[in-house]
Amino acid sequence: MPERSHQLFGIVLMAAAVGLLSGCRCSSSPSSSTSTLAPNLSARGKTVYAGNCIACHNPDPKLVGAVGPAVYGSSLELLEGRLIKGTYPDGYKPKRPSAGMPVFPHLAAEIPALHAFLNGP
Ligand code: HEC
Repeated sequence: MPERSHQLFGIVLMAAAVGLLSGCRCSSSPSSSTSTLAPNLSARGKTVYAGNCIACHNPDPKLVGAVGPAVYGSSLELLEGRLIKGTYPDGYKPKRPSAGMPVFPHLAAEIPALHAFLNGP
């Protein structure tokens, strides 16, 4: 008799757990498909930054890197100029007078993502 009620208790627990798990899945999928564009863009920018920039810039863009200056807060115009043409926006005072950074024309499509990451939280 006591054993039987143990078994029943276990089944009830399992049913509750399954219900909880599936409930979680159901309620989380609609919310994660809406308004995630900005975090995704920033996450993508972080990947691009990690793959192309941290040889010289700090992995934390707010800090000065091994070779390059801190780049947190860079504007779209600055990123476009620096990465595509190797120039600075009109009237912009560069953080460094040097010209050690190569251009990255193949990253043109990633500039919005880099910008989101470099201006994110
Ligand atoms: C080979 C080293 C190197 C790499 C790789 C590199 N940078 Fe730079 N970066 C520099 C240096 C050095 C400077 C300072 C100016 C100069 O010497 O060209 C600079 C300057 C900059 C500036 C201008 C900062 C300012 O406000 O004056 C930005 C923006 C920038 N880098 C972004 C990036 C991004 C984004 C990447 C990756 C796609 C990247 N850099 C990759 C070395 C590098």
